[in-house]
This record gives sequence, C-alpha cells and structure tokens, in this order.
Amino acid sequence: MILEGTGSQLKTAGNLGSFMQKEIFEQPQSVVNTMKGRINFDNLTVQLEGLKDHIKEIQRCRRLILFGCGTSYHAGVATRQILEELTELPVLVELASDFLDRNTPVLREDVCFFISQSGETADTLLALRYCKERGTLTVGITNTAGSSITQETDCCVDINAGPEIGVASTKAYTSQFVALVMFALMVCVDRKSMQERRKQIMHGLKMLPDHIKEVLSLDDEIQKLAVELYQQKSVLIMGRGYHYASCLEGALKFKEITYMHSEGILAGELKHGPLALVDKLMPVIMIIMRDHAYTKCQNALQQVVARQGRPVVICDKEDTETINVGQRTIRVPHTVDCLQGILSVIPLQLLAFHLAVLRGYDVDCPRNLVKSVTLE
Ligand code: AGP
Repeated sequence: MILEGTGSQLKTAGNLGSFMQKEIFEQPQSVVNTMKGRINFDNLTVQLEGLKDHIKEIQRCRRLILFGCGTSYHAGVATRQILEELTELPVLVELASDFLDRNTPVLREDVCFFISQSGETADTLLALRYCKERGTLTVGITNTAGSSITQETDCCVDINAGPEIGVASTKAYTSQFVALVMFALMVCVDRKSMQERRKQIMHGLKMLPDHIKEVLSLDDEIQKLAVELYQQKSVLIMGRGYHYASCLEGALKFKEITYMHSEGILAGELKHGPLALVDKLMPVIMIIMRDHAYTKCQNALQQVVARQGRPVVICDKEDTETINVGQRTIRVPHTVDCLQGILSVIPLQLLAFHLAVLRGYDVDCPRNLVKSVTLE
C-alpha cells in the first residue's frame, strides 16, 4: 500500500493511510489500555492479575532473564535498567535465537520472561520450552490471548495493545515497555526505600498518554526531515543508557521498511570503532536526554561534530544547552528517566514511516518479512 500526501493531510482526513501509521497514532490509547484496571494512581499500586499467584516466588528468585526477538527483544533492553533498580535482581536480556545457539545454563531459581507480540515466534517458543524443561518459572508478555506462549507459560501478562497488523511493530513495543515497568513496580511495592521513586514513575505513567500526543504532534516536522534524508543510503542512530534500546529499535524500523542501512550505536562505544564512520556526509541521529548519561552524551555529540558530523538530536524540549548549540533538534517533552525511552522512540517510528513512504515502499508489508516468524 503506497501512501499519498503528507502525514498531516492524512491525519486531518481522519483516515490514516496504512496500518503502521494508524498504529503509531494509536499509542496514546494503547498505553492506556495496557494500564487500564491494573494501576491505582491514588494508592500507587499495580496489580497484574496474571502474576498475582506467583509474585512471592518471583520476589524470591535469583535472576530475571528476558527473552525475545527483534522489537520484543528491544523492549527487554529498554526496561532492563529499571528492572534491575526496582527488583534489585540481576537481569539478563537474551535474543532467543542466540540463546538457543548456546548450551546456556539456566537455574531453577531463575524467572524467565518471554516477550512476544504474536506469542507464536518460533525461537522465543523454543527458548520457553528449554527453560521449562529446566524447571524455571516462565512468564509470558504477549499481545495475543490464546497464543502458544500464553498457553505454555506458567503465567502471563496480556499487554492489551489491540491487534497490530503492520509488520513493523510500533504500539506493541511501547505497551511491552509499559507492562515491564508495571511489573517492576509490582515487585517492589513493599520496599520503603523505593516509595519516592515509585511515585515518580507512577506520575510519569499517568502523564504518558499526553506526552505521547505531544510527540505525535511533531509529525509534520519529522516528515520534513524525512524529505531531507530519504535519498540517503545509511543512517546511524546513537545514544546510551535508557536510550540505547530506542537506537536499536529505530535502526530496526529503518532497515525493515525503508531498506536503508541503519545501525543503532551505543554512544559509549563510539571511540572503539563506529566513530570512523562519521564524516560530513554520514546522516547521524543522536538521542540526548537529561538523565544520568547526559554529560557523556554531550561528549559523544562533540566527538561527532569534531568529525564534521551534522547530527539531528532528539532531546528534551527544555534542554536549552543542546538546543542552543546549533544542532537540528527534535524536541520531546520531559518525563521520568525510565519512561523517556518511549518518547525518544516514537520520533524514530514516524521518521521510518515517512522515509518509507517517500521511497515508495509498502510500509505495512515490507519485502522478505512476515508478521509472525513461526519457523526457526
Ligand atoms: C519488528 O518490527 C519486527 N516485525 C520483528 O522484529 C518482531 O518484533 C519479531 O519478529 C518478534 O515478533 P514477536 O514479538 O511476535 O515475537
């Protein structure tokens, strides 16, 4: 399906032209659906029904291991840090295919999460069976009731994002993200020392739909950026900390639907190789947010600029320091650090969408790919 017209023309027509675009714009509501009936913002509690009989066992476990493929793996990368902080447990994130290629030890005291939009991805399902045979507690995070992963796990959380038809996953990612943050909040409910942090995160979750709407309102600006970039061959996306996952996920969207070469680069690794790619011609997008990694990201920005790079920076709309240094910026609202990744990934979803449209590709059905990968 090839779209005509700009994003804003399509939106004002009230008729979004592809499933992917519709699903991107559904995110203010899909994240609400993920939270609905589960979060009580008055007494700051979270109840994920599917997990309630197992929560004590989870609180006693030795490690959490998150499994997924593609975008679902990125949801694990995105939430690893907050899971480590709130659960105080070691958290491993595994690509299911890579895990299966090794003879990986798992322990009975591990709790294993299987993140999958479809609930049918072959590698994730095989990793689940491998862990089950070794006696671990298995938890599904899926968007498809009745799927194999919901049936074969010991317990499950439905992310309730609603059907996702576009092959490129968008709203499922942000709902997986929210579901995993809710899980972390549920685990630490009794920890006194964490109540202030929980309050901050709850507030961020409450504001999330409005913040997402604000990011979506940048669509016309992002479409203009796509006009500048769509004939390029390659795009590098750099960030670190909470935003590394957005870089990986943005790069995956670019590859998948625009067929451009794209890489998500951990900014901390720049000097170890990727910096050699930067010159005045290489398109670079950097994510710099006001969090614990801010100064290090500013250093990375200087390294890129010193090599004649002209990055587009996705930053906090109130970050005058970054805005005033003359880089082109995409300015998003500020939220609590562990949710900011939701607001940094949406501009990349929009940009990938517009680039694909301008390049004349079918955004919903990219070549060589299927929605659910049920074969190894
Ligand atoms: C993302 O845009 C992809 N379509 C793909 O990476 C997908 O996330 C992956 O195949 C895993 O699918 P699942 O979530 O249904 O398990």
